[in-house]
Amino acid sequence: METDSRLHVCITDADHARWEVPRDVIPRPALQDVLVEPTAKHAALPSSHTLSSASSDLTFTIHTAPFRFTVTRRSTGDVLFDTSATLVFKDRYLEVTSSLPAGRSSLYGLGEHTKRTFRLQHNDSFTLWNEDLGRSDQLDLNLYGSHPFYMDVRSPGGAAHGVLLLNSNGMDIHYGGSSITYKVIGGVLDFYFFAGPSPLAVVDQYTQFIGRPAPMPYWSFGYHQCRYGYKNVEALEDVVAGYAKAKIPLEAMWTDIDYMDGYQDFTLDPVNYPAKRLRPFVDRLHSNGQKYVVILDPEVKRSATPDEKDVFLQWNGSTLVGEVWPGEVYFPDFMSPRGAEYWERKISEFRRTIPVDGLWCDMNEPANFRDMPTLNALDDPPYRINNAGVHRDINNHSVPVSATHYNGVSEYDAHNLFGFLEARATHDGLLRDTKRRPFVLSRSTFVGSGRYAAHWTGDNDARWDEMRHSINTILSFGLFGIPMIGSDICGFTGNSSQELCSRWIQLGAFYPFMRGHSEKKTIRREFYLWESTARSARKSFGTRYRLLPYFYTLMYEAHTTGAPMVRPLFFSYPHDANTYGVDRQFLFGPGLLVSPVMEPGATTVDAYFPAGRWFSLYDYSLAVATRTGKRVTLPALADAANVHVAGGSILPTQQPALTTSRARQTEFRLLVALAENGTAKGELFLDDGESPEMGGARSKWTLVRFSCDKESKGGITMRSHVVHNTYAPSRKLAIGKVVFMGLQSPATPKVYVNGVQLKAAGIMYRRNGVLTVSGLSLVVGEKFEINVVMSH
Ligand code: NOJ
Repeated sequence: METDSRLHVCITDADHARWEVPRDVIPRPALQDVLVEPTAKHAALPSSHTLSSASSDLTFTIHTAPFRFTVTRRSTGDVLFDTSATLVFKDRYLEVTSSLPAGRSSLYGLGEHTKRTFRLQHNDSFTLWNEDLGRSDQLDLNLYGSHPFYMDVRSPGGAAHGVLLLNSNGMDIHYGGSSITYKVIGGVLDFYFFAGPSPLAVVDQYTQFIGRPAPMPYWSFGYHQCRYGYKNVEALEDVVAGYAKAKIPLEAMWTDIDYMDGYQDFTLDPVNYPAKRLRPFVDRLHSNGQKYVVILDPEVKRSATPDEKDVFLQWNGSTLVGEVWPGEVYFPDFMSPRGAEYWERKISEFRRTIPVDGLWCDMNEPANFRDMPTLNALDDPPYRINNAGVHRDINNHSVPVSATHYNGVSEYDAHNLFGFLEARATHDGLLRDTKRRPFVLSRSTFVGSGRYAAHWTGDNDARWDEMRHSINTILSFGLFGIPMIGSDICGFTGNSSQELCSRWIQLGAFYPFMRGHSEKKTIRREFYLWESTARSARKSFGTRYRLLPYFYTLMYEAHTTGAPMVRPLFFSYPHDANTYGVDRQFLFGPGLLVSPVMEPGATTVDAYFPAGRWFSLYDYSLAVATRTGKRVTLPALADAANVHVAGGSILPTQQPALTTSRARQTEFRLLVALAENGTAKGELFLDDGESPEMGGARSKWTLVRFSCDKESKGGITMRSHVVHNTYAPSRKLAIGKVVFMGLQSPATPKVYVNGVQLKAAGIMYRRNGVLTVSGLSLVVGEKFEINVVMSH
């Protein structure tokens, strides 16, 4: 019992050290420090032995004949994990099965795969082995990252717990409905159980252990534009101008491998991307409040003699040579301090020429185009995981697992950590050089990567089902502690139709990480090119930029509690089993329900509304009120997804602009959606958006909580409560307008601000219960009180 909510069960070899996920990847106590009874190592245990503590809801029981263990929720007696069926422990084959109550258990997580549904389906099998399949549109195949973590929500009641198998070796996981089986080709059986019982508590406990999601800079919530195949700097200039002319927000311009000289990192194509043209372009972006991000691939073109020791992966007695874009290459060993140091130095040097604002780590599974011969037994393990869905060789399209890292660690054990380690070195390099909050996007991830990087769903295809599947991956990465995630809007490969692209923009406006990116052979689809996509982008991005203060406050929540920004409905409504299968809608924070159009030609959207009151974000009217949850057919809007505000929430907003920095200069507003009992709450977090720390002791920040309560005579009082305030006082930030939704007043109410009655001019009341109070100048970071007194 490492904490009251975390139980750790490790099965290892008592006599021989085995590979474990390194302690600097997931910082945790050494095993010998946590063993409860070290002297019992070889002693006979009683036939069963139970550990429980009054302060924990988890109980652990070990049985010796035959060996098995169970984990039980003490308060309900529910058995959460029970290894009765099988347990095998060999050198390169570990197998364990736990039984599950098929009808009562809903499982989520286990990645990375493109899944048909967010909730795992019975008889699903998943392989975890970081792999570049060249596309991510094939269902259930192992993709770029490995996350052996699932959340189990039990009905009735909705108590949730989390299970992590902390193991970096390749594995197959079979979910049979009434059981889950792990078949792992190395390491130890290192299980962590997180007690919940709410879904938010599970992610809090999980990210407390694996590391909290990195704070992302404010600008990274703006719109990012990329394409594989922007030929030269002029092509970039045209795109920036195209967005400006169409008045569509553009925050960051990206460049794929096209900028490099011979596809080598940290170089510039002297003809198409010479520094003398690229640098002024980047300077112009910066002076316009925009950003520039480039791609990096984790390899270095082969030279006659690799001059640096402990910098590159080794194989068969010398530096490993593979093949990627530049031709023959070496692969940096990010596990080695010298490898990481080398990388960080390269980043600093490159930034002297081109001061990039963020970096994109691609191909870091790592991909390798060269087939490598088998060197030793590691290359051909006794159990073949189901790599690429056809039991393909584990060396397929990657470096051989017989390669070695620093200290002799084999790629066999560390393969799944490669992307994690590169993202960490890239993050540290940017931080060291800029002293600002880094933005790193990584294709390959592992448990804990959220501490350093954002993620995207890779090489998706311009298809309607792909757009739908993006939600499943985004929700899954929320569970994995990587809340900053999105999909290539309008699809990477394939040609997007205008209709698909418009709908995808409307959905993408609610991806935490919002980027359009496409493959070079496809038709251009920058959003200003078609009238319909331009309209969708203006409308939907307008809404997003308005909501940025709310989004950014949720980033703070994610960073401090692990709560994903985009979350499944059951996170807020765990008692409602109807929410367990919903994955065509999602919540953005607790306050917004997004119901996008997912079908071609749709004129309506079938949506589920959990219990409560739901207000339209666009006209503030009460759209749905339900005591138990209700299915509703909504009209499909032309240029935006349906979005509803949950009664009981207060959302801080600002005004839209073409960049986030401009939007940040506009007045604040509060949207108050009253629950039926007249209450509501919300919060606003603010800082400069780029200090390395978010909300820590060394940075300046402001956190204000807002709450609304019903008064005895039917009135409403709204109060602000200043939790922390070292940022706002240095700025002149004011709340100019407050909109109350869902008032029950027959006539225009009277409004008092800090005890002083407002003149009628600032008050507008509509019969649908919407009260707009404008002309205010409430200083952000100062206490205030607004009283709404009903007139009869
Ligand atoms: C693969 C990446 O997934 C894709 O986004 C990128 O455009 C290509 N590599 C080329 O760098």
